[in-house]
Amino acid sequence: MLKKLIACSVVTLFLVTGTAILSVASDAGPEEITMVGAKSKKPKPSIFPHKKHQDSFKCAECHHGMADGKQVPYAEGQDVAKCESCHNKDVLAGKKSGKLKLDTIKGAGHGNCLACHKKMAKENAELKAKKIAKCAACHPKKKK
Ligand code: HEC
Ligand code: HEC
Ligand code: HEC
Ligand code: HEC
Repeated sequence: MLKKLIACSVVTLFLVTGTAILSVASDAGPEEITMVGAKSKKPKPSIFPHKKHQDSFKCAECHHGMADGKQVPYAEGQDVAKCESCHNKDVLAGKKSGKLKLDTIKGAGHGNCLACHKKMAKENAELKAKKIAKCAACHPKKKK
């Protein structure tokens, strides 16, 4: 129901504003992001080339919202909050997705980043050769 409502308003917005909404760069966020886990700096914080991913993937691959404690799909132009603002012990206490603890930044990061990297490495030999599914792809051992 809510999903439908949101989908509807997105379509309406689209009809009203036409393609303008696509060309106006709403806040796209930083080009590179260092994500630091709450618990420790071990393994090293993951470095995330945001812009590079934006060039290949839709915002909705990674961003979503929440209503009534449930995940709602990303809607074009919505406010984007840090993963940790929901994926923490207060907001999503005890929530899991398989083995992943969604009330941690690690769970959010691995559920999204690592899951996709694994999937793509499996499907694409070139990406596998780039070792994108290995820990060091996101948790580099040495500072570059
Ligand atoms: C595709 C990217 C990616 C890969 C590959 C990846 N991780 Fe992560 N990992 C993250 C992100 C994002 C976080 C959350 C932010 C952070 O802690 O750096 C995280 C968090 C963690 C944390 C929690 C750190 C903390 O302080 O809470 C551990 C431990 C961890 N990863 C271990 C691993 C191990 C071991 C591997 C290899 C099996 C691995 N990761 C592979 C992206 C990745
Ligand atoms: C491959 C995953 C991915 C894609 C695709 C992606 N983002 Fe992000 N984005 C992230 C992550 C991860 C962060 C860091 C969140 C954090 O620090 O907790 C982020 C951060 C942001 C931020 C800053 C949020 C803040 O408060 O610091 C904005 C704004 C943003 N993204 C907008 C977008 C938009 C708009 C798109 C589509 C054009 C997009 N992103 C595509 C993963 C992605
Ligand atoms: C506004 C709150 C909110 C923000 C911000 C948020 N999430 Fe979520 N996320 C949720 C909710 C709610 C769920 C569903 C939890 C449940 O009921 O199991 C969820 C589920 C997930 C899941 C498991 C389901 C799935 O889609 O695979 C992953 C992985 C995930 N989020 C990653 C992220 C990442 C990565 C970010 C930052 C780029 C992020 N989330 C930002 C609220 C949020
Ligand atoms: C929807 C799929 C997808 C998601 C989600 C995703 N990635 Fe990626 N990422 C890729 C692909 C594909 C590449 C390889 C691009 C290339 O080199 O052609 C990549 C490349 C990278 C690289 C560069 C690796 C290298 O050695 O060149 C880093 C670092 C990275 N991702 C970190 C992250 C982190 C951290 C997250 C989560 C915040 C994330 N990625 C989420 C698909 C994804």
